[in-house]
Amino acid sequence: MREFWSYDVARIYLFSRTNCSMLFTLFVLILCYLSSMTSAVRYTEYILTPSSRTLYPVSVYNINGTVKNAAGLVNSTAAATFTGQCAATYDFGKNIAGIVSFDFNTSGDAGETHIGISFTESSLWISSEGCDATADAGIDQALWFEISGAGHRQASKEHQRGGFRYLSVYHNSTDDVRLSNLSVHFTAVPQKRESDLQAYTGFFHTNDEQLNRVWYAGAYTNELCTIDPTAGDALNYLGTINSSSTINSPLPWYLNYTIATGASVLVDGAKRDRLVWPGDMSIAVPSIFVSTNDLSTVRNSLDSLLRLQNSSTGALPYAGVPFGQAMPVFSFTYHLYSLIGIYDYYLYSGDEAYLARNWERFKFGLNYSISFIDPSGMANVTTSADWLRFGMGAHNIEANAILYHTLNLGATLANVMNDTTVSAWSRYAAGIKNATNAQLWDPDANLYRDNDTTPFTELHPQDGNAWAVISNLTTSSAQNINISNALAARWGPYGAPAPEAAATVSPFISGFELQAHYLAGQASNAVRLMKLMWGDFMLDDPRMTNSTFIEGYSTNGDLHYAPYSNDPRISHAHGWATGPTNALTFYAAGLQVTGAAGRTWKISPMLGGLAFAEAGFQSPLGLFEINATSVENGGLNVTFNTPAQTTGSVIFAHQTGVRGHVIVSKVQGGTRLTKRVTISLGGAGTTEIHGLRGGSYEASLIVHQV
Ligand SMILES: *[C@@H]1O[C@H](CO)[C@@H](O)[C@H](O)[C@H]1NC(C)=O
Ligand SMILES: *[C@@H]1O[C@H](CO)[C@@H](O)[C@H](O)[C@H]1NC(C)=O
Ligand SMILES: *[C@@H]1O[C@H](CO)[C@@H](O)[C@H](O)[C@H]1NC(C)=O
Ligand SMILES: *[C@@H]1O[C@H](CO)[C@@H](O)[C@H](O)[C@H]1NC(C)=O
Ligand SMILES: *[C@@H]1O[C@H](CO)[C@@H](O)[C@H](O)[C@H]1NC(C)=O
Ligand SMILES: *[C@@H]1O[C@H](CO)[C@@H](O)[C@H](O)[C@H]1NC(C)=O
Ligand SMILES: *[C@@H]1O[C@H](CO)[C@@H](O)[C@H](O)[C@H]1NC(C)=O
Ligand SMILES: *[C@@H]1O[C@H](CO)[C@@H](O)[C@H](O)[C@H]1NC(C)=O
Ligand SMILES: *[C@@H]1O[C@H](CO)[C@@H](O)[C@H](O)[C@H]1NC(C)=O
Ligand SMILES: *[C@@H]1O[C@H](CO)[C@@H](O)[C@H](O)[C@H]1NC(C)=O
Ligand SMILES: *[C@@H]1O[C@H](CO)[C@@H](O)[C@H](O)[C@H]1NC(C)=O
Ligand SMILES: *[C@@H]1O[C@H](CO)[C@@H](O)[C@H](O)[C@H]1NC(C)=O
Repeated sequence: MREFWSYDVARIYLFSRTNCSMLFTLFVLILCYLSSMTSAVRYTEYILTPSSRTLYPVSVYNINGTVKNAAGLVNSTAAATFTGQCAATYDFGKNIAGIVSFDFNTSGDAGETHIGISFTESSLWISSEGCDATADAGIDQALWFEISGAGHRQASKEHQRGGFRYLSVYHNSTDDVRLSNLSVHFTAVPQKRESDLQAYTGFFHTNDEQLNRVWYAGAYTNELCTIDPTAGDALNYLGTINSSSTINSPLPWYLNYTIATGASVLVDGAKRDRLVWPGDMSIAVPSIFVSTNDLSTVRNSLDSLLRLQNSSTGALPYAGVPFGQAMPVFSFTYHLYSLIGIYDYYLYSGDEAYLARNWERFKFGLNYSISFIDPSGMANVTTSADWLRFGMGAHNIEANAILYHTLNLGATLANVMNDTTVSAWSRYAAGIKNATNAQLWDPDANLYRDNDTTPFTELHPQDGNAWAVISNLTTSSAQNINISNALAARWGPYGAPAPEAAATVSPFISGFELQAHYLAGQASNAVRLMKLMWGDFMLDDPRMTNSTFIEGYSTNGDLHYAPYSNDPRISHAHGWATGPTNALTFYAAGLQVTGAAGRTWKISPMLGGLAFAEAGFQSPLGLFEINATSVENGGLNVTFNTPAQTTGSVIFAHQTGVRGHVIVSKVQGGTRLTKRVTISLGGAGTTEIHGLRGGSYEASLIVHQV
């Protein structure tokens, strides 16, 4: 066994963050074979994705008029009889998507008898007139089926409904209609075999049941936003109906536009827009990686954007087809999100060929962004299109922070590509960091101002401040903590405000705010915000679907999203609202990939008051798993598994100046042969152990009485 020992030697480097000096170099000898890990996905009881494509209502929500045995349609067991002018509303218990069908038997004459069906995500928009809405004004038509005698009816493919929890059945003639087998063929995640619908590759579990539901609702939201690429939004009313239009009767709708190639595509929302939006992907894609690892869908979506790159400027579209062509506006930030999308896809898949194929596009695009940098050192944004926030222009902090981040990601990718022609990127990045801190930082508010247009604005945006921390545009950890606390101090009863979008709570930008709290080492702020917004409100409020996350709402708790005037139009299943799913895995459980497909990884749990957090996910290199438990005095006990042929670090955050130590043990095989490394905590705020080879470990942060 001697040769095997020397093959599997791990070099472990220990760093203290303040002096950044290498404390030790140790050689750890490891015995036995690489541990084989179970690939069974745990906690399937939380998965909201249905196990069958045939779905039945789970309860009767309301009955108007005479519907005999309305409950007969629940769980397909029997039949209900509709008599005269009447309606029954059924509840599927969660947001779903699909094509409705039913069997009928009536004595009514041909041409006289109709059954109508309408859909809505929120119970607020149950109506005798039709569905909730997809256009900027009005509501959507019910589907009406002419029936006589006995038979079966099914909606057409273009009349699949992308998101609804409630389904109403209308009857409006004097005869009796006996209805049975009212069901919906589930059309989301079309690329999956029915038997694989619940085959998640990742899991998450903590002692807080509400956060468990939040993690799985985020995963399911992205499943509902994974659609058949031929069932996208045709933008039927673009340019003909806007928010000030007066619409007197419900509008026809259909989903039949091909928005991408391949078997599936990730869109912003299940009901609408059913378009590829790069900004939305920046939250949805990491959440998909940690839950279902559905990277082929991600690639199809990214490809639909990259194909639209302007061949003379390098500009990438605001959204995919048909929007990107119908409304060819440039969005400084969404352009960058497509570039971040290339980075994310490469990071999670390790698909270097994809990166190589798109490297010229990436450079072309990033150099276009750089062309907006003026002598101030910052980009001057000249188009307002963003996530529907207001006042996006000039030396905007959000735009410059995202550019700073993308320049740094670009430098990482350039290394992979051995491309030495882009050294200017790091100079531009340094210039942005320098200038934003000099021009936009407001020390009185402990936040960045939105821009430096005179007179100085007193608006300190949520987006730019969250992104400043994420991108490391900030200059110290004290500044990060100040931003985290200043943002938390502004929360209202329904969540974190985004003053840059009027009286709005944005689950999208709040997903970035979660990351900012964690990166600032303020995990308890992140946990509190997740419970307040995603738990208490977005899951548990009765106007919600209790299963998927809404795109936006008002700071006073109204289901009104300032950029829209038509409230029934708001999407209740929006991938950009799934930030907690990736934040809980990456930061709370502290399981992160840092290099292609997880070739390098980082273990850094930040429980923020949770008793423990478990997570796992799969990359092409194998399974990654962790279980982190809080112990006395802010210490942690962690077990984790990472695939062979990977290397990584354990980084424990603790208060500065505490005494204690870190123990790391590699565990091999059933006999638990262990090699321990013990390190005393230094004065630093983190203790870092680098150079760990993939395998099965136990690690503890032991803090003595503070
Ligand atoms: C219908 O099925 C759901 C889910 O299995 C169950 O919770 C509910 O009690 C059932 N309802 C009836 C009336 O059988
Ligand atoms: C049932 O009646 C109530 C009260 O008039 C109304 O608000 C609701 O929209 C009706 N439901 C249907 C499906 O017609
Ligand atoms: C029922 O509604 C359908 C669809 O609006 C309509 O075509 C039909 O004439 C109505 N029937 C009666 C009896 O009102
Ligand atoms: C979509 O369906 C509508 C209504 O049936 C039809 O008018 C339109 O031509 C279709 N569009 C496409 C792209 O197939
Ligand atoms: C600067 O920010 C303020 C606050 O968001 C906004 O009202 C203003 O329009 C912005 N300036 C430009 C040029 O976009
Ligand atoms: C940004 O560019 C626009 C258009 O060229 C210009 O009008 C504006 O003054 C510039 N803003 C700043 C802050 O330089
Ligand atoms: C970059 O250089 C390394 C080392 O020479 C080589 O192994 C790798 O294949 C190169 N990558 C690309 C994309 O050319
Ligand atoms: C940082 O900004 C200052 C002026 O605000 C300037 O003198 C200095 O050259 C800048 N440094 C870099 C690296 O851009
Ligand atoms: C963030 O920026 C600071 C300098 O402002 C630098 O010391 C630190 O290494 C950076 N952190 C990361 C993670 O790059
Ligand atoms: C919400 O869904 C959870 C399952 O995810 C269920 O346990 C709970 O009862 C539901 N809440 C309501 C109010 O329906
Ligand atoms: C993870 O740790 C918690 C708390 O110590 C424990 O209850 C749980 O069983 C552990 N999970 C696994 C899979 O061992
Ligand atoms: C944490 O791990 C240490 C060994 O590293 C062990 O002595 C201690 O009992 C563990 N604590 C808990 C609460 O599991």
